[in-house]
Amino acid sequence: MSKGLVVITGASSGFGEAAALGFAKLGHPLFLGARRVERLREVAQACERAGSPEAGVQALDVRSKESIESFCAEAGTPEILLNNAGLALGRDHLAAMKDEDLVGMIETNVIGLVRVTRALLPKMIAARRGHVINLGSYAARGVYEGGAVYAASKHSVRVISETLRLELSGTGIRVTEMDPGMAETEFSVVRLGDEASAKKVYEGWQPLTAADVAEAIIWVATRPPHVNISEVVMTATAQASLTKVHKG
Ligand SMILES: NC(=O)c1ccc[n+]([C@@H]2O[C@H](COP(=O)([O-])OP(=O)(O)OC[C@H]3O[C@@H](n4cnc5c(N)ncnc54)[C@H](OP(=O)(O)O)[C@@H]3O)[C@@H](O)[C@H]2O)c1
Repeated sequence: MSKGLVVITGASSGFGEAAALGFAKLGHPLFLGARRVERLREVAQACERAGSPEAGVQALDVRSKESIESFCAEAGTPEILLNNAGLALGRDHLAAMKDEDLVGMIETNVIGLVRVTRALLPKMIAARRGHVINLGSYAARGVYEGGAVYAASKHSVRVISETLRLELSGTGIRVTEMDPGMAETEFSVVRLGDEASAKKVYEGWQPLTAADVAEAIIWVATRPPHVNISEVVMTATAQASLTKVHKG
Protein backbone atom coordinates (compact mmCIF):
# COMPACT_ATOMS: atom_id res chain seq x y z
CA MET A 1 0.00 0.00 0.00
CA SER A 2 1.37 3.44 -0.89
CA LYS A 3 2.24 5.73 1.96
CA GLY A 4 0.56 9.11 2.36
CA LEU A 5 2.10 12.56 2.10
CA VAL A 6 3.70 14.03 5.22
CA VAL A 7 3.81 17.84 5.37
CA ILE A 8 6.21 19.28 7.95
CA THR A 9 6.65 22.92 8.92
CA GLY A 10 10.03 23.80 10.39
CA ALA A 11 11.84 20.84 8.81
CA SER A 12 15.23 22.56 8.50
CA SER A 13 16.44 21.47 11.96
CA GLY A 14 15.57 19.82 15.25
CA PHE A 15 12.36 17.80 15.64
CA GLY A 16 11.11 18.64 12.14
CA GLU A 17 14.29 17.39 10.46
CA ALA A 18 14.42 14.24 12.61
CA ALA A 19 10.74 13.48 11.98
CA ALA A 20 11.22 14.00 8.23
CA LEU A 21 13.99 11.38 8.27
CA GLY A 22 11.84 9.02 10.33
CA PHE A 23 8.91 9.26 7.91
CA ALA A 24 11.31 8.95 4.98
CA LYS A 25 12.60 5.63 6.34
CA LEU A 26 8.99 4.39 6.35
CA GLY A 27 8.71 5.33 2.66
CA HIS A 28 6.47 8.41 2.90
CA PRO A 29 6.59 11.22 0.34
CA LEU A 30 7.32 14.53 2.06
CA PHE A 31 6.68 18.22 1.58
CA LEU A 32 8.95 20.29 3.80
CA GLY A 33 8.88 23.97 4.72
CA ALA A 34 11.06 26.43 6.63
CA ARG A 35 12.80 29.75 5.95
CA ARG A 36 16.29 28.28 5.43
CA VAL A 37 15.79 26.65 2.04
CA GLU A 38 19.39 25.47 1.63
CA ARG A 39 19.12 23.52 4.88
CA LEU A 40 15.75 22.17 3.76
CA ARG A 41 17.24 20.93 0.51
CA GLU A 42 19.93 19.04 2.43
CA VAL A 43 17.26 17.49 4.65
CA ALA A 44 15.20 16.54 1.58
CA GLN A 45 18.21 14.88 -0.08
CA ALA A 46 18.91 12.90 3.09
CA CYS A 47 15.23 11.89 3.18
CA GLU A 48 15.30 10.61 -0.41
CA ARG A 49 18.47 8.64 0.36
CA ALA A 50 16.69 7.23 3.42
CA GLY A 51 13.72 5.94 1.41
CA SER A 52 11.26 8.76 0.69
CA PRO A 53 10.00 8.41 -2.92
CA GLU A 54 9.81 12.22 -3.18
CA ALA A 55 10.81 14.98 -0.78
CA GLY A 56 9.59 18.37 -1.97
CA VAL A 57 10.73 21.61 -0.37
CA GLN A 58 9.39 25.13 -0.43
CA ALA A 59 10.39 28.27 1.45
CA LEU A 60 7.92 28.88 4.23
CA ASP A 61 7.72 31.71 6.71
CA VAL A 62 4.80 30.97 8.99
CA ARG A 63 4.78 34.63 10.06
CA SER A 64 3.67 35.55 6.52
CA LYS A 65 0.11 34.86 5.36
CA GLU A 66 1.20 34.96 1.71
CA SER A 67 4.04 32.52 2.30
CA ILE A 68 1.67 30.09 4.03
CA GLU A 69 -0.89 30.36 1.22
CA SER A 70 1.69 29.64 -1.46
CA PHE A 71 3.23 26.74 0.55
CA CYS A 72 -0.14 25.15 1.23
CA ALA A 73 -1.29 25.56 -2.38
CA GLU A 74 1.74 23.48 -3.48
CA ALA A 75 1.56 20.99 -0.64
CA GLY A 76 -1.04 18.51 -1.91
CA THR A 77 -3.29 16.65 0.54
CA PRO A 78 -1.43 15.61 3.66
CA GLU A 79 -2.00 12.28 5.33
CA ILE A 80 0.03 13.76 8.17
CA LEU A 81 0.45 17.46 8.92
CA LEU A 82 3.22 18.06 11.44
CA ASN A 83 2.83 21.61 12.74
CA ASN A 84 6.30 21.91 14.18
CA ALA A 85 7.65 25.37 13.21
CA GLY A 86 8.06 27.32 16.40
CA LEU A 87 10.43 29.13 18.70
CA ALA A 88 11.06 30.85 21.97
CA LEU A 89 12.63 34.30 21.96
CA GLY A 90 14.44 35.49 25.09
CA ARG A 91 14.05 34.75 28.80
CA ASP A 92 13.12 38.28 29.88
CA HIS A 93 10.55 38.81 32.59
CA LEU A 94 7.35 40.27 31.21
CA ALA A 95 8.06 43.75 32.60
CA ALA A 96 11.17 43.97 30.43
CA MET A 97 10.08 41.92 27.45
CA LYS A 98 10.97 43.13 23.96
CA ASP A 99 8.00 43.77 21.72
CA GLU A 100 9.66 41.91 18.84
CA ASP A 101 9.97 38.79 21.01
CA LEU A 102 6.32 39.00 22.06
CA VAL A 103 5.08 39.41 18.49
CA GLY A 104 7.57 36.87 17.09
CA MET A 105 6.44 34.06 19.40
CA ILE A 106 2.71 34.68 19.00
CA GLU A 107 2.90 35.08 15.23
CA THR A 108 5.05 31.96 14.78
CA ASN A 109 3.69 29.56 17.39
CA VAL A 110 0.00 30.47 17.33
CA ILE A 111 -1.07 32.47 14.28
CA GLY A 112 1.23 30.57 11.91
CA LEU A 113 0.09 27.17 13.19
CA VAL A 114 -3.59 28.14 12.85
CA ARG A 115 -3.13 29.52 9.33
CA VAL A 116 -1.27 26.45 8.07
CA THR A 117 -3.89 24.16 9.60
CA ARG A 118 -6.77 26.24 8.22
CA ALA A 119 -5.26 26.14 4.74
CA LEU A 120 -4.70 22.37 4.65
CA LEU A 121 -7.65 21.01 6.64
CA PRO A 122 -10.33 21.36 3.91
CA LYS A 123 -8.34 18.99 1.68
CA MET A 124 -7.91 16.53 4.56
CA ILE A 125 -11.60 16.74 5.46
CA ALA A 126 -12.54 16.08 1.82
CA ALA A 127 -10.21 13.05 1.86
CA ARG A 128 -11.86 11.90 5.13
CA ARG A 129 -8.54 10.86 6.57
CA GLY A 130 -5.47 12.41 8.01
CA HIS A 131 -3.60 13.30 11.15
CA VAL A 132 -2.72 16.72 12.53
CA ILE A 133 0.23 16.56 14.92
CA ASN A 134 0.89 19.81 16.75
CA LEU A 135 4.16 20.59 18.51
CA GLY A 136 3.14 22.07 21.81
CA SER A 137 5.56 21.82 24.71
CA TYR A 138 5.82 20.77 28.34
CA ALA A 139 5.43 24.55 28.76
CA ALA A 140 1.79 24.06 27.69
CA ARG A 141 1.26 22.52 31.11
CA GLY A 142 2.63 25.08 33.52
CA VAL A 143 4.45 28.36 33.90
CA TYR A 144 7.96 29.55 34.65
CA GLU A 145 9.66 32.89 35.17
CA GLY A 146 10.88 34.36 31.91
CA GLY A 147 8.51 32.15 29.94
CA ALA A 148 5.16 33.98 30.10
CA VAL A 149 4.62 34.41 26.40
CA TYR A 150 6.30 31.20 25.23
CA ALA A 151 4.19 29.22 27.71
CA ALA A 152 1.09 31.21 26.73
CA SER A 153 1.72 30.40 23.07
CA LYS A 154 2.06 26.70 23.84
CA HIS A 155 -1.00 26.70 26.13
CA SER A 156 -2.76 28.12 23.06
CA VAL A 157 -1.51 25.26 20.89
CA ARG A 158 -2.97 22.83 23.41
CA VAL A 159 -6.35 24.61 23.36
CA ILE A 160 -6.26 24.58 19.55
CA SER A 161 -5.49 20.84 19.49
CA GLU A 162 -8.35 20.09 21.91
CA THR A 163 -10.78 22.22 19.91
CA LEU A 164 -9.76 20.60 16.63
CA ARG A 165 -10.44 17.18 18.12
CA LEU A 166 -14.03 18.30 18.77
CA GLU A 167 -14.49 20.05 15.44
CA LEU A 168 -13.06 17.13 13.44
CA SER A 169 -15.08 14.48 15.25
CA GLY A 170 -16.61 12.19 12.61
CA THR A 171 -14.19 13.16 9.85
CA GLY A 172 -11.71 10.37 10.54
CA ILE A 173 -8.96 12.93 11.13
CA ARG A 174 -6.81 12.41 14.20
CA VAL A 175 -5.30 15.20 16.27
CA THR A 176 -2.27 14.78 18.52
CA GLU A 177 -0.57 17.26 20.79
CA MET A 178 3.13 16.55 21.38
CA ASP A 179 4.43 18.14 24.57
CA PRO A 180 8.15 17.47 25.02
CA GLY A 181 10.31 18.89 27.77
CA MET A 182 13.78 20.29 27.22
CA ALA A 183 15.52 18.87 24.14
CA GLU A 184 18.89 19.84 22.72
CA THR A 185 18.20 21.20 19.24
CA GLU A 186 18.78 24.70 17.87
CA PHE A 187 15.93 25.87 20.13
CA SER A 188 18.15 27.43 22.82
CA VAL A 189 20.51 29.02 20.27
CA VAL A 190 17.48 30.77 18.76
CA ARG A 191 16.10 31.66 22.18
CA LEU A 192 19.32 32.95 23.78
CA GLY A 193 21.05 34.22 20.66
CA ASP A 194 24.40 32.38 20.85
CA GLU A 195 25.88 28.88 20.97
CA ALA A 196 27.76 29.33 24.27
CA SER A 197 24.66 30.36 26.26
CA ALA A 198 22.68 27.57 24.61
CA LYS A 199 25.32 24.96 25.53
CA LYS A 200 25.12 25.98 29.21
CA VAL A 201 21.42 25.07 29.31
CA TYR A 202 22.27 21.38 28.76
CA GLU A 203 25.50 21.19 30.75
CA GLY A 204 25.72 18.47 33.42
CA TRP A 205 22.62 16.49 32.48
CA GLN A 206 21.14 14.55 29.59
CA PRO A 207 18.29 16.32 27.78
CA LEU A 208 15.99 14.77 25.17
CA THR A 209 17.31 14.64 21.60
CA ALA A 210 15.48 15.46 18.39
CA ALA A 211 15.57 11.74 17.58
CA ASP A 212 13.80 10.88 20.88
CA VAL A 213 10.96 13.24 20.03
CA ALA A 214 10.80 12.14 16.38
CA GLU A 215 10.50 8.52 17.50
CA ALA A 216 7.43 9.45 19.58
CA ILE A 217 5.95 11.38 16.64
CA ILE A 218 6.41 8.35 14.37
CA TRP A 219 4.85 6.11 17.01
CA VAL A 220 1.67 8.21 17.29
CA ALA A 221 1.42 8.43 13.49
CA THR A 222 1.72 4.68 13.01
CA ARG A 223 -1.10 3.59 15.34
CA PRO A 224 -4.06 1.96 13.54
CA PRO A 225 -6.56 4.51 12.11
CA HIS A 226 -9.10 3.90 14.92
CA VAL A 227 -6.53 4.86 17.59
CA ASN A 228 -5.87 8.52 18.39
CA ILE A 229 -3.06 9.37 20.77
CA SER A 230 -4.43 12.70 21.98
CA GLU A 231 -1.46 13.93 23.98
CA VAL A 232 2.14 12.94 24.55
CA VAL A 233 4.02 14.46 27.47
CA MET A 234 7.65 13.39 27.50
CA THR A 235 10.67 14.73 29.31
CA ALA A 236 14.24 13.73 29.91
CA THR A 237 14.45 11.53 32.99
CA ALA A 238 16.45 14.32 34.62
CA GLN A 239 13.66 16.88 34.13
CA ALA A 240 11.04 16.57 36.88
CA SER A 241 9.14 19.81 36.24
CA LEU A 242 9.41 22.97 34.15
CA THR A 243 11.84 24.37 36.70
CA LYS A 244 13.54 21.29 38.22
CA VAL A 245 16.34 19.55 36.35
CA HIS A 246 18.67 17.18 38.18
CA LYS A 247 22.30 17.84 37.28
CA GLY A 248 25.25 15.62 38.02
N1 LIG B 1 13.79 21.97 21.94
C1 LIG B 1 12.97 22.04 22.96
O1 LIG B 1 13.39 22.03 24.13
C2 LIG B 1 11.47 22.06 22.72
C3 LIG B 1 10.65 21.55 23.74
C4 LIG B 1 9.28 21.55 23.53
C5 LIG B 1 8.74 22.01 22.37
N2 LIG B 1 9.56 22.53 21.39
C6 LIG B 1 8.92 23.00 20.16
O2 LIG B 1 9.26 22.10 19.12
C7 LIG B 1 9.24 22.78 17.86
C8 LIG B 1 10.54 22.53 17.12
O3 LIG B 1 11.60 23.05 17.89
P1 LIG B 1 13.08 22.46 17.86
O4 LIG B 1 13.44 22.14 19.26
O5 LIG B 1 13.20 21.39 16.84
O6 LIG B 1 13.90 23.79 17.47
P2 LIG B 1 14.79 24.19 16.20
O7 LIG B 1 15.88 23.19 16.01
O8 LIG B 1 15.16 25.61 16.42
O9 LIG B 1 13.78 24.06 14.98
C9 LIG B 1 12.74 25.00 14.78
C10 LIG B 1 12.23 24.88 13.36
O10 LIG B 1 11.17 25.84 13.19
C11 LIG B 1 11.42 26.58 12.04
N3 LIG B 1 10.86 27.93 12.10
C12 LIG B 1 11.06 28.89 13.05
N4 LIG B 1 10.43 30.03 12.70
C13 LIG B 1 9.83 29.77 11.50
C14 LIG B 1 9.06 30.56 10.61
N5 LIG B 1 8.75 31.84 10.88
N6 LIG B 1 8.60 29.99 9.48
C15 LIG B 1 8.90 28.69 9.20
N7 LIG B 1 9.63 27.90 9.99
C16 LIG B 1 10.09 28.45 11.13
C17 LIG B 1 12.94 26.62 11.89
O11 LIG B 1 13.28 26.80 10.52
P3 LIG B 1 13.91 28.14 9.87
O12 LIG B 1 14.67 28.85 10.94
O13 LIG B 1 14.76 27.60 8.76
O14 LIG B 1 12.70 28.89 9.37
C18 LIG B 1 13.30 25.20 12.33
O15 LIG B 1 13.20 24.32 11.26
C19 LIG B 1 8.96 24.25 18.18
O16 LIG B 1 7.56 24.46 18.01
C20 LIG B 1 9.33 24.36 19.65
O17 LIG B 1 8.63 25.39 20.29
C21 LIG B 1 10.92 22.54 21.54
